[in-house]
Amino acid sequence: MKIFVDSAEIDEINKAKEYGMCDGVTTNPSLIKKAVDKLKSGGKKVDMANYISDICKVAGRDSPVSLEVVSLKAEDMVKEGVMLYGKFNGLMGNVVIKVPVSTSRQEGEEHYEGLKAIKDLSRRKIPVNATLVMTPEQALLAAKAGAAYVSPFAGRIDDYLRTKLGESFGKGDYFPAEGKHKDGQLVDDKGIASGVELVKRTMEILERYGMKTEVIAASLRNARQVREVALAGAHIATIPFDVLEEMIKHPKTFEGIVKFSEDVVPEYQKIFGD
Ligand code: G3P
Repeated sequence: MKIFVDSAEIDEINKAKEYGMCDGVTTNPSLIKKAVDKLKSGGKKVDMANYISDICKVAGRDSPVSLEVVSLKAEDMVKEGVMLYGKFNGLMGNVVIKVPVSTSRQEGEEHYEGLKAIKDLSRRKIPVNATLVMTPEQALLAAKAGAAYVSPFAGRIDDYLRTKLGESFGKGDYFPAEGKHKDGQLVDDKGIASGVELVKRTMEILERYGMKTEVIAASLRNARQVREVALAGAHIATIPFDVLEEMIKHPKTFEGIVKFSEDVVPEYQKIFGD
């Protein structure tokens, strides 16, 4: 499984690269806002074009960087995608255009603008990451439209189910892959009992039909969820930096390293020189 870093913060992308934990980067308008707010609060001015160029450069040639469009109409999203690709792909050849699978905000609005944009951009050989995917069916449609990647949002489905369960929860709280029951009934979203199940079923469908589209498990909130999407066979997990850090820590590793350090006898230490 590849690991992408779900961040627009250059420091984080840089560190993940150093750790060898960055096969790609995913951004979205909220992550860009977070990065920009941080820079501004540190008194820095942001030149967005330079900033995005830096993200692409830090990620490097073989690490796809997803950059999201902001319009809601297919025609406008295509223009934005073509512009982003034209402006930044030349640097490292790693730009992927992120397009919401649907841009409708409620019933009654046009639901197919996202798919139309995905199809158009893909036909132009611009790789697309279909985002805000909440069902395997949406993923299937995006894959049919030619998306190179689909991003099922595991954490947000868990949020949705917890709200149905009437639970209060923190963003990083674990939600079981098998789902939860209320009044003896499994609480689900049209048969999907958890974000991990969303990823699993999406993988199953795309693999069954031999589709080339890769599944990026997204909206991941904790280390155990990463383990579960890995077990579900996700091609890629895009992971926030704090979750990457959570993945490496264990109290018994801390304890073990203390003991090993204490137990180094001088004879053994000498092997390494003074
Ligand atoms: O990659 C998608 C991700 O950034 C959304 O995560 O935690 O805001 O649902 P989250």
